[in-house]
Amino acid sequence: MRLTSKHHYLDHNATSPVADSVNDWISKGDFFFGNANSRHSSGQKSQKIINTTKNLLLKKISHLQGESNLFFHSGATEGINTIVKGFWEAHPNGLFLFSEIDHKLCFALSNWGEKKSFKSQFFGVNEDGSPDLEGLEKLLDSNKNRPILLNYLWANNETGVIWDQSLLNDLKAKHQGLVIHVDAAQSIGKIEFPFKHEQCIDFATYSGHKFGAFKGVGWTYTRSIEFPGLIEGGGDQGLRGGTPNTEGIYSIYLALEELEKKIDFVHLDNVYHKIQSSLQALEPLIKCYGCTGQGGNTLLLSHPRINSDIQIAAFDMAGIQLSAGSACSSGSSLPNHVARALGASTDEAKRVIRLSWDYRIKNSEVEEIIDIFKNVWAKF
Ligand SMILES: Cc1ncc(COP(=O)(O)O)c(C=O)c1O
Repeated sequence: MRLTSKHHYLDHNATSPVADSVNDWISKGDFFFGNANSRHSSGQKSQKIINTTKNLLLKKISHLQGESNLFFHSGATEGINTIVKGFWEAHPNGLFLFSEIDHKLCFALSNWGEKKSFKSQFFGVNEDGSPDLEGLEKLLDSNKNRPILLNYLWANNETGVIWDQSLLNDLKAKHQGLVIHVDAAQSIGKIEFPFKHEQCIDFATYSGHKFGAFKGVGWTYTRSIEFPGLIEGGGDQGLRGGTPNTEGIYSIYLALEELEKKIDFVHLDNVYHKIQSSLQALEPLIKCYGCTGQGGNTLLLSHPRINSDIQIAAFDMAGIQLSAGSACSSGSSLPNHVARALGASTDEAKRVIRLSWDYRIKNSEVEEIIDIFKNVWAKF
């Protein structure tokens, strides 16, 4: 996406610019100032916006309409903290399972739990970025007698690889008491509509700013609301205290409606193949992680010579904004943990760049982006 006359923005998996409809609405200044918990008409207007958004999300992302529910929060980090800490509170002997290519927040939660004697473990992945099901099954079998919460990433933030949710039905049937949370923070804009959560999913968490809504707002879908909330203070069915972020919630409504109208998955795939093949032709020794020809919006590449930090600075000066992986590891020179898990050596993982775009990218931009790559890489 062309953000200014100078820059192509290729860091959509970190965060996306707001959707046009959100921009238009902000510029009108037509905000919902009433507290949705107030009984007067301004408060009720806010409540109505929240209910409308909630209904839209339940319709779009859940096929368990009668049974399902959701609560809003500040984004996936809070949502996942709520589910994992709530699980440990309810089951102090419970095991939190996540994969070695999950978002760094899962590793942070695991470290937090360890200090409180809560148990967690990660399972491995295959070189194509899919989950190592055999390894996961073994872990489930050897922990049969304890409650287990499995965190299952739907679309990977570093590679864009999509995990098949239908595999979960079998796992759930075999392992009684298994609770499944899907980290769906990156899924909107990557998974074709209509969204189909598998019947066995207990929770799924989303962030608005990944698809054109505001930062600081997200939601978690729940099959049942019988779990402890993290933030006390009443609020959303007692699950999340605090005055609801009505503006943020409305931005989700607008951004989602716009994305569904405008997104063209064939175009996204064409852009993917064009960029991947052109960059591979420019530099045949680049390695691509999780690239199985799947298409999508994300490429994770390792250059044979140039370190990530140098590339990020050089591309920024030349007019492309990209990253070395998830936002929390950019700014540090740590090797990308997802590339490592997918077979990169430590050095290769230090030379990784991630390109991620969204439905707004134009073919004319793609040509300009490839030209810039040609010029920047030729300098090293
Ligand atoms: C897969 C995944 N999960 C969780 C998060 C955390 O989302 P947020 O920063 O919106 O809280 C991110 C953000 O990059 C993500 O990519």
